[in-house]
Amino acid sequence: MTDRYQSFTDSPIGKIFVKNLGLPNPMKLDRWHDGAPLVDGTVLVGGSGRLAESATAALGTLGVGFQRATETPSTEGDKLKGLVFDATGLTTAGDLIGLQSFFTPLMRRLQACARVVVLGTNPSETESGSERIAQRALEGFTRSLGKEIGKGSTVNLVYVSPGAEGAIASTLGFFLSPKSAYVSGQVVRIGAGGSKKAQQASDATKPLHGKIAIVTGASRGIGEQIARVLHRDGATVLGIDVPQAASELQALMTELNGDFLTLDITGKDAPARIAAHVKKTFGAVDGVVHNAGITRDKKLANMSEDRWASVIAVNLTAPELITQELLDQGLINKNGRIVGVSSIAGIAGNVGQTNYAASKAGVIGLVDSLADELKDGITVNAVAPGFIITQMTAAVPFATREVGQRMNAMSQGGLPVDVAETIAWYLNPASTAVNGNVVRVCGQMMLGA
Ligand SMILES: NC(=O)c1ccc[n+]([C@@H]2O[C@H](COP(=O)([O-])OP(=O)(O)OC[C@H]3O[C@@H](n4cnc5c(N)ncnc54)[C@H](O)[C@@H]3O)[C@@H](O)[C@H]2O)c1
Repeated sequence: MTDRYQSFTDSPIGKIFVKNLGLPNPMKLDRWHDGAPLVDGTVLVGGSGRLAESATAALGTLGVGFQRATETPSTEGDKLKGLVFDATGLTTAGDLIGLQSFFTPLMRRLQACARVVVLGTNPSETESGSERIAQRALEGFTRSLGKEIGKGSTVNLVYVSPGAEGAIASTLGFFLSPKSAYVSGQVVRIGAGGSKKAQQASDATKPLHGKIAIVTGASRGIGEQIARVLHRDGATVLGIDVPQAASELQALMTELNGDFLTLDITGKDAPARIAAHVKKTFGAVDGVVHNAGITRDKKLANMSEDRWASVIAVNLTAPELITQELLDQGLINKNGRIVGVSSIAGIAGNVGQTNYAASKAGVIGLVDSLADELKDGITVNAVAPGFIITQMTAAVPFATREVGQRMNAMSQGGLPVDVAETIAWYLNPASTAVNGNVVRVCGQMMLGA
């Protein structure tokens, strides 16, 4: 499943076409590989607020090379792989000029696939109306910069609650590294609630060492990559899939020294069977990733009851009931993680997908309904993939597929590993303060918010 258009634009003749006709020019994105540094280059840290010190401390912990920016950064100097700007000191609309004075001179010093992270204060936690306005303005700034920066670079905004200053390392590590290759224009909130329970992993290369994670729909596509990445990070994976996928699932879980269970997650007894298996085999789990999902597209005028019901059952009711069963039986360990796989369709809507979009918006509802209730450092978050190249999207008609792949700031579809890396960041034991978020893995798709 390759992107044939991207292969064409990489060819000598393709380069001429792109240049002369102004066609979209997808850049080969940096992706992290085993043994690579977290950030391959220097990060410049600027701005003056309550987070600049914590940011440099976090970069030190992560082993990322950084420099502190002078008040007026120079257009001249070494190329930079990343920029971190502490915007928490911007408390009026007039202060926003600080964004222009920091970023404008640096834009031409950025390497390809650069990373920009702006740190702010959640607007609802500011101390004055004018500070709230200024902090809210950061969203427009980061989303626009994400769309104009190009060359495979990303721009994200992280709102950090007062009191959560010490809980930003895993999030900075993710957004500054190639692990966030296809995540741009996002707004993430780090709350103070769980910040004291965040645990730094003892081995940074295996942050999930000793952890057990369930992944549903693990036999192929995005689920397979989630299983691979969690295993890479040290977790033992319990893969779940339908009986028809048993041989692929078994082969993958054997390769990953994991465990597997074949069942239909919509079965009446599925939550109880999963819970019983977890209890017997592991005692409890540290992560549950609700990845299994289906589409049964039809315009609503032609939608049968069966198409509607099956999509809601797999994508929404099963994650809800399985989560509830595991929580009710106390089978999710302290500092555990629940992750829903939503979709851009659940945010922006899509023709022919009223059933699917309802189910995927419901997954966001699941996050909202649990985020404030969970105890003991357990978090719930979701990813909302955009166009990810898998067997599911291979079934999309050619023209729709082409439009889907190009209509984003990266002019290309994402890879399953991009979704998997985002989930690995949520599962990191240091991400306890990352709760109640929905992060789109969509290359900053032009559709929707
Ligand atoms: N591919 C994309 O572009 C994209 C975009 C947005 C969201 N998503 C979501 O990401 C997730 C994975 O998508 P994918 O593209 O890898 O799909 P896929 O069809 O390749 O894989 C889905 C997996 O879920 C399993 N599954 C389906 N019904 C099940 C059931 N009742 N019980 C147990 N397992 C079941 C399938 O057997 C399969 O292994 C889905 O939730 C999908 O909605 C995908």
